[in-house]
Amino acid sequence: MTNDQPSIVVVGSVNLDIVATADRLPAPGETVTGAELNRFPGGKGANQALAARRLGARVSLVACVGDDPEADAALALLNEGDVDLAASVMHPSAPTGVALIAVSPDGENHIVVAPGANRELSASHIALPEAEGLICQLEVELPALEHAINVFEGFICINLAPALYVPDVFFREADLLVVNESEARFYSDALLTSDAMVARTLGADGAELLTRGKVISRAEAPVVETVDTTGAGDTFTAALTLALIEGQHSEQALRFACAAGAVATTKSGAQPSLPLRADVEQLL
Ligand code: RIB
Repeated sequence: MTNDQPSIVVVGSVNLDIVATADRLPAPGETVTGAELNRFPGGKGANQALAARRLGARVSLVACVGDDPEADAALALLNEGDVDLAASVMHPSAPTGVALIAVSPDGENHIVVAPGANRELSASHIALPEAEGLICQLEVELPALEHAINVFEGFICINLAPALYVPDVFFREADLLVVNESEARFYSDALLTSDAMVARTLGADGAELLTRGKVISRAEAPVVETVDTTGAGDTFTAALTLALIEGQHSEQALRFACAAGAVATTKSGAQPSLPLRADVEQLL
């Protein structure tokens, strides 16, 4: 890591993703067999941390894992990728978070998360390293996030995923809120109360940036061969935050984030598919 790289701290989840790739996703109550099984490091916090790192930021992750072999597997690519884990903690009895993910051939997924140790991250664990940007998502306990948001001085991005009721301070203190289409419907008018820029992702149709409900930029997603969309939203969130911290114009930053998200859909697994900066620049 070099000191001239922008610095980002991520407060969020670490999961081990157990991924079954099947011919199709099951309907409620249905069993689909014949799937191929893989384990990948995941969790929205960890994915966003590694995505920001691979795209060129210095990154620290504040997270909580269990004292178990799943933690080693879940942290492997963060360690390899030089994400700073000094501010993360290990819980003595709660298990590392696990996500059960079913993926279809067109890359769509169903995800169920057993949060385990992610639920144990508390405000008392949050010793935020100094950084230019903070990124949070909603897979850890809200009081821990609220504390981080209140004490952090710098650019704050909150990825409101998965959709949950959050304290007003999240809307008040954020500089950037990231939602997908269903999250945008869930938060609806609450997004209009915020002065933050809102990024709404539209899957293969790209994304738009809004302030107070008014679209200020739109970007198409480059056409790629999609294998697995897991982690694409995390990549988008990290890329947009980094680009805005770097001072890119909102339109250019949105194009960069859409391209980064698109590259992340071209390989299986959340973290193995996170792009390097050069991959994104080549696609642009
Ligand atoms: O956003 C994708 C992530 O959501 C997966 O890696 C899974 O762990 C869940 O947290």
